Order: sequence, then structure tokens, then C-alpha cells
Amino acid sequence: MGAFIEAIDLHKTYRVGKIDVPALRGISFGVQQGEFVTVVGPSGSGKSTLFYLLGGLTRADSGKVVMDGDDFATLSDAERTRMRKRKIGFVFQKFNLLPTLNARSNIAIAQEIAGNGNRDPAFFLRICDLLGLTKRLNHRPSELSGGEQQRVALARALVNKPAVVLADEPTGNLDTENSNIVLRMLRQSNQELGQTVLMITHNPEAAKYGDRIIHMRDGHVVKPEEDPEWSVH
Ligand SMILES: Nc1ncnc2c1ncn2[C@@H]1O[C@H](COP(=O)(O)OP(=O)(O)O)[C@@H](O)[C@H]1O
Ligand SMILES: [Mg+2]
Repeated sequence: MGAFIEAIDLHKTYRVGKIDVPALRGISFGVQQGEFVTVVGPSGSGKSTLFYLLGGLTRADSGKVVMDGDDFATLSDAERTRMRKRKIGFVFQKFNLLPTLNARSNIAIAQEIAGNGNRDPAFFLRICDLLGLTKRLNHRPSELSGGEQQRVALARALVNKPAVVLADEPTGNLDTENSNIVLRMLRQSNQELGQTVLMITHNPEAAKYGDRIIHMRDGHVVKPEEDPEWSVH
């Protein structure tokens, strides 16, 4: 008990027509504040669903997520949304940038959504510098490479200094060089700000960037030796 993030017996089943698709079948674990945890497991094992629940984007069928003492389930939708904007930075495999806005505005929009209290112009510039974006800020997503787009998405996720960063295969579409920039930035942010980072990855090298690996399979957390995909690496 007392972990910064606690997942307690999470269950989630999707209903597609009349068919039930179980995604999480009783997931429990704790993550300490400032930990960098990587999550691995075969495709379909429930990793993304877990992150949606951890981030308050969807509700569990049963079980609960407690983050920094707050139980999502007991919060109203408005409170949950507020907490998400204030505390959590998301990065996805698809960059999800707004196509009509340039890089600067795509990053700044996170600050606007979270409210003026979080604005820190010096930090904004530093993040852009660390991510090699300073000369790209006037470009729209269509004028940026995939790696640059993901670096913009990462800047957007980090600019409010969230307590928690949830990254779902952030390097899944990137070449080695861009992957390394993204991974190093996540690590640096984790270490400098004491941020709690959870990152889903398929890449064993990327998984090693964390302090600890959580293995998932068929909607469960399993021991490393029960993850056959992993033990072949
Ligand atoms: N929106 C959805 N509707 C129906 N089934 C879904 C949906 N999202 C995921 N699933 C199913 O839930 C299971 C877990 O998916 P997911 O959490 O995306 O796993 P992973 O990220 O590990 O690949 C899979 O069987 C998947 O097909
Ligand atoms: Mg996924």
C-alpha cells in the first residue's frame, strides 16, 4: 500500500455486438512515485486498455485505480478530467497532433487546456531545445518528419510537468535515432522532475530504459518467465 499509483483488481471487457472481448482480467500492481516502469506483452494482452484506465480515459468494469490518493471511480467526470489535465501527460504511438496548428501551438495547447497556472516559458523553450525542435516550431505536422512529430507530441505531454507520464509505444513508429531521443527525454524528465513514468513498448532495448518491467499476457500481469515472447530475446 501507499504506492503513488495503485491498480487494484482491474477488470475490463469490451462488448462488440453480442460478443464480449475481455481485455483485463484482474490486474493489480503498485508504482512508486518517481519510478520509470516499462510494460511489455504480446499484442492484445491489454496494455493499452490498462493505460486508458490508469489515465482516467475509460472506466473499469470493476476494480480501481488510485493515483496520489485519489480514487478515479469516486470522482465526477469533471473532476476526473481536471485531474487528468493537471497530473498526467500522454504520449501515443500515433502522434495525434492537430494538423492545422504549427508545432509551437500544438505544444502550447496543452498549457492552455491545463490553465494558466502551469505556464513556464523558460521550461517550454528548454523542452523544445532538448528535443531538437527549436527550429521546427513554425512548421505544421505535415511539414515535419514522423520523428519530429513524435518529439512535438512528447513536448506537449511534458510541458506542464505532469506528475505522471503514460507513454503507449511512443517509439513504435520511429527509427533508432528518434527512438533514442524520445527515450532519453523520458528518462531525463523522470530523473529531473521525479516524474512517475509508465511506458508500453515492444522493444527490449527500450524496456531496459526503465527501472522495472511489468509483463502482461491475456489481461493478466505475469512473471517474466511466463512471458514466452520475452524470454526468446
Ligand atoms: N475499443 C475496443 N473494442 C473492442 N475490443 C477492443 C477495443 N480495444 C481493445 N480491444 C480488445 O481488447 C483486447 C486488449 O486490447 P489492447 O488493450 O489494445 O491490447 P494491447 O495494447 O496489449 O495490444 C484485445 O483483444 C483487443 O482486441
Ligand atoms: Mg496497445
